[in-house]
Amino acid sequence: MSTLTIKNLHVSVKGKKILRGVDLTLNEGETLALLGPNGHGKSTLLAAIMGNPNFEVTEGSIELDGKDVLAMEVDERSKAGLFLAMQNPVEIPGVNSAEFYKAALNVRREKPISVFEYYRLLEKAYKEMGIPFEMSQRNLNEGFSGGEKKRNEILQMKLLNPTFAFLDEIDSGLDVDAMRVVAKAIEEEQGKGKGFLVISHYARLYTMIHPTRTAVMVNGRIVVEGGPEIVTRIDTEGYEWIRREYGISLEKLEKEGSQVSLGTCSTKVLLNGDKKE
Ligand SMILES: Nc1ncnc2c1ncn2[C@@H]1O[C@H](COP(=O)(O)OP(=O)(O)OP(=O)(O)O)[C@@H](O)[C@H]1O
Ligand SMILES: [Mg+2]
Repeated sequence: MSTLTIKNLHVSVKGKKILRGVDLTLNEGETLALLGPNGHGKSTLLAAIMGNPNFEVTEGSIELDGKDVLAMEVDERSKAGLFLAMQNPVEIPGVNSAEFYKAALNVRREKPISVFEYYRLLEKAYKEMGIPFEMSQRNLNEGFSGGEKKRNEILQMKLLNPTFAFLDEIDSGLDVDAMRVVAKAIEEEQGKGKGFLVISHYARLYTMIHPTRTAVMVNGRIVVEGGPEIVTRIDTEGYEWIRREYGISLEKLEKEGSQVSLGTCSTKVLLNGDKKE
């Protein structure tokens, strides 16, 4: 069984400290729900795991089965079985989707995939994701709608067959039917024993994919870990109980200039800094 182990991870972006000692373990076969208020470092954690050069790891370690992930190049991390579906997938003008996926697939193989085998695989993946096959000939994410981009990330996950998939707000922008398609694709991969780390602000996706564990990130640290019941608690009560029960201020980063707003999330009202019990 593969294990991803993150210890005391500190990460800065543009000289600003975002992660301040993250400890987290993810095992194959688990689905970890990662929640936390806006701007507290969830996406930063995934960027650091995948090796985004804008994110500087200043302290701590990330290991995959004892191997130092931080010493790996970005493509080596992907080859090692790590996959990120980004919160905001980037448009890559001039790069044909089908060609891009093929290149990504071949990086992970000893021998390049045959044209025949590749198209069979590609067609199957498009069909399962309910995406018209013609879209494989469009430039990657260019002009794709919000929901199309998100579906496409899952399509890529299916093609690349990672050991660990990190899904960053994959449910944002998906219509109800697309959400079902995406949840089904995740369930299929869960059935194969993959490990998932799924970030979402809403309970809906989680009720469909049944996380085995929950972690909550506040101020660049994992402050609470537990079972799936924590998702329900946050969905109904917000984050105020974390302040109350753990004595953790949710406003810390805001004072240092970050965004701490829950937008349209149902938990918004509970983040009022002046509110006292
Ligand atoms: N490239 C960057 N330049 C400057 N600041 C950045 C950059 N990337 C992230 N940050 C800041 O780092 C902090 C953490 O951002 P991050 O995206 O990790 O939050 P998050 O927990 O994923 O939030 P959300 O729930 O809104 O997606 C924010 O204050 C954000 O503005
Ligand atoms: Mg984010």
